Amino acid sequence: MTKPRNILVTSALPYANGSIHLGHMVETIQTDIWVRFQKMRGNNCIYVCADDAHGTAIMLKAEQLGITAEQQIANISEEHQADFRDFLIGFDNYHSTHSEENKELASLIYTRLKENGKIASREITQAYDPEKEMFLADRYIKGTCPKCKADDQYGDNCDNCGATYSATDLINPKSVYSGATPVTKESTHFFFRLPEFTDFLKQWTRAGHLQDEVANKLAEWLDSGLQEWDISRDAPYFGFEIPGESGKYFYVWLDAPIGYMASFKNLCDKTDGLNFEDYWGQDSQNELYHFIGKDIVNFHALFWPAMLSDSGFRTPTKVCVHGFLTVNGEKMSKSRGTFINARTYLDHLNPEYLRYYYASKLTNRVDDLDFNLEDFVQKVNSDLVNKVVNIASRSAGFIKKAGGILSSNVENPELWNKFTAASEVIANYYEEREYSKAMREIMALADAANEYIAEKAPWTLAKEAGNEQLVKDICSQGINMFNVLMTYLSPVLPTTAKAAEAFLNLSLDWKAAPEYLGEHEINKFKPLMTRVEGDKVEAMVDASKETIQAKPEKKQDENSWLAKEPVADEIEFDDFAKVDLRVALIKNAEHVEGADKLLRLTLDLGGETRNVFAGIKSAYAPEDLIGKHTVMVANLKPRKMKFGMSEGMVLAAGPGKKDIYILEPNEGAQPGMRVM
Ligand code: MSP
Ligand code: ZN
Repeated sequence: MTKPRNILVTSALPYANGSIHLGHMVETIQTDIWVRFQKMRGNNCIYVCADDAHGTAIMLKAEQLGITAEQQIANISEEHQADFRDFLIGFDNYHSTHSEENKELASLIYTRLKENGKIASREITQAYDPEKEMFLADRYIKGTCPKCKADDQYGDNCDNCGATYSATDLINPKSVYSGATPVTKESTHFFFRLPEFTDFLKQWTRAGHLQDEVANKLAEWLDSGLQEWDISRDAPYFGFEIPGESGKYFYVWLDAPIGYMASFKNLCDKTDGLNFEDYWGQDSQNELYHFIGKDIVNFHALFWPAMLSDSGFRTPTKVCVHGFLTVNGEKMSKSRGTFINARTYLDHLNPEYLRYYYASKLTNRVDDLDFNLEDFVQKVNSDLVNKVVNIASRSAGFIKKAGGILSSNVENPELWNKFTAASEVIANYYEEREYSKAMREIMALADAANEYIAEKAPWTLAKEAGNEQLVKDICSQGINMFNVLMTYLSPVLPTTAKAAEAFLNLSLDWKAAPEYLGEHEINKFKPLMTRVEGDKVEAMVDASKETIQAKPEKKQDENSWLAKEPVADEIEFDDFAKVDLRVALIKNAEHVEGADKLLRLTLDLGGETRNVFAGIKSAYAPEDLIGKHTVMVANLKPRKMKFGMSEGMVLAAGPGKKDIYILEPNEGAQPGMRVM
């Protein structure tokens, strides 16, 4: 027997400013299958993850929701962990980058880099929002494209003509937060001297840690010259203050990968015999695997090994890069309902369907992966339900009738050999992350098993006396083949594997090639998996369309409609027509105790009164509003808020703060009139 390997595995840390969607799940499912496979093979494999809790986006999201950043990340952490758990992702630990462990490790690594002369500092000039009093990254500035003159373009490139430029070139630039015109301002930033690692990285990226296609891509960057990496941000920022500097914070990506270490450290502190240094020490012989998406390769295959190598830690054994999820061949789209949140999927469908579907498509290449909804239904039903589960259900009854104990005769040794010989082949495919090949191999075995049973037709044999032993032998072989198939599939289907264990009355075990069970008693067969129903898939897509429209409703607290994120895909006229806009008379307006941003409005719709909370307190005093006409969304699903039910929404415009203007229809408009 070979010695068990010690392997630490990570998935990229999801940002704490949004929900988990089916794109994230490509990664966690890919990783989880690999981890379960390793554990099953007898290796010591530890899987850690965390939320990536720092950065401007999270800070602003919290502000928008009227909660603290800490509250925001606590809420999201709970949500993320529930989503992952329900997708059967078996983390050994789930932590946060906003943790004591991470703060210590980030400081330690930074300090060592600094002592080694790898940190530079210099003044840089940046766009600054004078109203919000913060520096603005390019994507937080909008204006008119200097080239094609299209309005409302981001500070780094134009959606309309594709031009790239810097935010200072925009005509009439505005801060996305406040609407203020940005000014330029100087400040000191700290830089990681990445170019000094060029030789190290040229060697490291070719030393078997990366897929070839990834190494080739990086070679282009390495050859064209690396830049120093800006690792600091000015206050206000949600993150860790840089040791020895005040008002300077680590850029989120500096401490994010250190979060892998922090999560593991946190696990060590609560696990006897697990030692941090064994896995992260410079001389560690244990393996370290990072699973990531193709968009974050430079952080993991350049910055990260450079940082680790210079601060006394080991570098990763492998960085495994996967492609992006498309749905029905296109980028996930909110308007088409194909931007599907993990929770929306779970509300409608069994997580194992998706685990199997992804497995059947995943390779060890960086190619994108398509979630084709029709193919999904078809494949799951035909492979899992019709092929695999069917083998057990066709064989089980005859065994039960014969006393419930399997026969030890191998009725068809040649076929059985195929099943055992496949063990190493399939194991190798898992190891190499060639899951689609593994699934194909397993389904080929399932086909062979079904053909065998169909050909022998035990149901016909059973009608004639004298065939009892033969029927029992055939069906015992059926059960044995099912046992093997479920063993090979258990990294993908942990719940079904459990159910199969109950039926087979054993623990599925894959430390070595499978052995024939012999005279073993099995339990009563219960259906292991039901078919995917097409209408559930449709319902999920419909719900995803709704989720987006109702998004502020679910997540945001007070000031919901003031969402400052650039909203919305194009919509169809039908979508627009769904919104029932009405003229409303503001009969009463009052302050809400405990709410910073809300006013309670009593709206008259011409006979009907509505209670609505509106986040306009910064711009209006109640007495300014009473007696005015405004426009409201009258068919918005009532939503429960901290302060009571809100039964609609009033329309307003403006960037926020004092500059919020409720819409006031011309005189003559009467309460209840439809707005079109
Ligand atoms: N917070 C960073 C990662 C820090 S790791 C030290 C981040 N977060 S993320 O939430 O945007 O993405 C987390 C992982 O999910 C990344 O590996 C990313 O590539 C992956 N995916 C996000 N959207 C995806 C798809 N649509 N398809 C496949 N993977 C995707 O990046
Ligand atoms: Zn343009």
